[in-house]
Parts: sequence; structure tokens; C-alpha cells
Amino acid sequence: MSAIENSKVTIVGAGSVGSSAAYACLIRGSARHVALYDIAAARVEAEVLDLAHGAQFTGVSDVVGGSDISVVSGSHVVVITAGAKQKPGQTRIELAAVNAQILESMMPQLMAVAPDAVYVIVSNPCDVLTILAKEQSGLPAGRIFASGTVLDTSRLRWKLARRAGVSTSSVHAYIVGEHGDTEFPLWSRATIGTVPILDWVGPGGETFSPDDLDSIAVDVRDAAYKVIQGKGATNYAIGLSVARIVEAVLNDEHAVMPVSSVLEDFHGIDGVALSVPSVVSARGVAPVTRTPFSPSELGLLRRSADALGSVAAGLR
Ligand code: 2OP
Repeated sequence: MSAIENSKVTIVGAGSVGSSAAYACLIRGSARHVALYDIAAARVEAEVLDLAHGAQFTGVSDVVGGSDISVVSGSHVVVITAGAKQKPGQTRIELAAVNAQILESMMPQLMAVAPDAVYVIVSNPCDVLTILAKEQSGLPAGRIFASGTVLDTSRLRWKLARRAGVSTSSVHAYIVGEHGDTEFPLWSRATIGTVPILDWVGPGGETFSPDDLDSIAVDVRDAAYKVIQGKGATNYAIGLSVARIVEAVLNDEHAVMPVSSVLEDFHGIDGVALSVPSVVSARGVAPVTRTPFSPSELGLLRRSADALGSVAAGLR
């Protein structure tokens, strides 16, 4: 494993998600160079200035950006956040047609200036957009993937940790499938420390019943709706999730994360992008094909695959 020297990430889209991702990358020192690109010149220039004005308080990372596509040149990672965002009550899937069109027009330009980059799609519905962008770009499945359920997994671990009375880093649990309404937790393998979740008894006697797990899964699935209802968007936690994914690539970490790439014979699923535990490195991602699923979890994964496959088919 060796970190990429003089590493550069470009974030495409200077809306609240893109700007928060750039901010998270800067304060975590995720890349040596952080760039922000958007066709809206006044907006992107203002965001870059605002970020750069904090340079005294960040590490060695610098920030540049603007509305000229040359901003993207030399990127090792390109993160795409551009596109329409969910309005209160709207599903991610409802954004598919408009965001697919935006991505289709952008990909050739981005690939012309950053042909060797790893591409991370954050715009929604991220799984569907990844299927379409992979087909359009001809990139290998590992080099174009979505942030997927990295954020949902963080939401899950936060909830479980608070209830169990432990640190989030001691919770080993994943949300998989669609980043959206058909996502689900892989409860069959969820542990706190090494203890299966249903056997857990915390320091204060905290436990989990099957009903508790059901209600936690629903809360996590619907978390973004709640935040969007209250403030019109989600941005901080997705920004941090992006920074963490960028680090795994640029540091060639081989970290296992639930990102979404187009699967090839994953438990019999082909040609659909879904989040499953995947090894993230400088080369991109590789799903962990031996990830065990219970029969009912496999049924849920297939349900996600069918739902996303038919949305993608309707847009080709
Ligand atoms: C989120 O889950 C809306 O996909 C975005 O926060």
C-alpha cells in the first residue's frame, strides 16, 4: 500500500453537498490538493474563496477551483455531486431522469481532462447514475462507483453505538443495497465488538430485540427525509463520507467500505450497481464476493437489484 503523492481530488458541483465535501477534505487533509468545479462561476468562486480563507487553520491541503474544466485536470479522484437535489418528500429515484442527463453531458468532458481518475458518484440516485455512467464512459467497474451506503452505514453505527453504550468504532454493521428506499442492514453479521447484535448486553444492561432492530433500520432508511424536511438538504455527513472514501483511494488503503459499483456475479447479481462491502484502494473498488448473506438478506438484495435495474433500463 502506498499513498499517492501530491494527490488531487476534484469535487464537481459547488452546491451544499459539494462544498461540504470540499470542506471535509480540507480539514481532514484527505488530499494535498482539493479542487471545486462548477459551471456556475460566481457560486464556485465564492465557495472556493470562503474555503481558502480558512487556510491558516487547515493542514497542508490547498483549495482551488472555478468554472473552467481545466480545474479538473490531473485529478486522481473526481467526485460528482452536481445535479438536482431532493425536495422534501421526494425520493432519490425521482431525480433519476434529470440527473442522468446532467451526468451524461458532463462525463465526456471530465474524462477528457482526467482520463486516469477514479470516479465517485454522489449525485442521486447514485446507484442508477453509476450504472449509466459506467456504460457511457466504458470505465472498468472498479474505477467508477458511488458513495452508496457509506453514509447510511455511518447513520446505522451511530444509532447502534448510542443505544449500546459503546463507541461507533466498536460497531461492526453495514447497510447494503440501494442508497435509498430498498436499502437494508446486514443484521446476520452485525456485531458489537465480537458479540452478535441480538446477544449484546451493554454496560448499563442495554440490549436489542428484533423489533428494536426493525425500527432502527426504518429510522436509518428514512433519515435523509427527516433532515431534508427540517433543513432542505443533507450535507455535513455526506461531506464527511466523501472525504473518508477519497482518503481510502488516495492512501491506497484497501479499506472495506459499503460503496456501490456495478456487480458482476455477486451472489448471482450482474450489471446493477449496489452497495456491498468492497475493498477501496488506489485502483478503485472490488466487491468482497464472499460476503455472507442470509437467505432473507439475499432476497432483499435481489429486490434492490430489480428495483434499480428497472429504473436504469427505463433511462437507456
Ligand atoms: C442522503 O442520504 C440525500 O442521499 C442523501 O443524505
